[in-house]
Amino acid sequence: MGIISSSIARKVAMALSGLFLVLFLGQHFTINLTSTFSPETFNEFSHFMGTNFLVQAILQPVLIFGVVFHFVMGFILEARNRSARKVSYVSYKGNANSSWVSRNMIYTGIVVLAFLGLHFYDFWFPEIAYKYIEANPSDATRYYGELVEKFHSPVRTGLYVLSFVFLALHLYHGFASSFQSVGFNNKYARGLKKFAKVYAIAIPAGFIFIALFHHFNH
Ligand code: HEM
Repeated sequence: MGIISSSIARKVAMALSGLFLVLFLGQHFTINLTSTFSPETFNEFSHFMGTNFLVQAILQPVLIFGVVFHFVMGFILEARNRSARKVSYVSYKGNANSSWVSRNMIYTGIVVLAFLGLHFYDFWFPEIAYKYIEANPSDATRYYGELVEKFHSPVRTGLYVLSFVFLALHLYHGFASSFQSVGFNNKYARGLKKFAKVYAIAIPAGFIFIALFHHFNH
């Protein structure tokens, strides 16, 4: 893997791309939350994000690269770890020396990846088609209606909610341990880890609230 050939470098790369995605998640959540109390604000934010040149030409490609990089590296890391561990640990006591979430990052990650497939099918592909393929005229008020419509279906709402539970599990280990991986280990590390664990539960719980809110209100 060229520049990212040592296993430490791979871990750092995983942590940095993960931290970047955590930042994205915070802003994505903030904008989506406005849809539960002010459709106008949600439309304004969405219109800005969807039409601003810097967001579209720079931030969006960087984000997509970040997502792809994180999951490709995740698969590589998992494969390398498996092949390096042909003989299982002598002292492997399951929960006693590692948590369930830390041992199953690849599986919680695969569920989040599957969710992203559905999510892009729901929102991102129609958006790209609307703007860049069909070249429809700009309409600053359409976003709220498009969002609400997606949560009519109980099956889709259920799949979203289930995915957010897996996202919480993934973040619960991933976010907190990323500080360790980038070598951040001073007196603030404990506090930051606590913050990461709260964030890992609160943000997915907030996404669950948004999905259920639109399902039961429309
Ligand atoms: C109730 C929960 C959520 C709602 C209502 C929602 C809504 C949306 C909408 C409307 C878009 C389209 C943005 C555009 O116009 O391009 C979008 C894009 C996206 N969402 Fe979500 N989202 C939710 C949860 C999540 C979660 C949990 C993740 C990550 C695990 C996520 C990741 C993304 C990504 C990566 C994009 C593409 C961003 C871009 O490049 O435009 N979303 N979402």
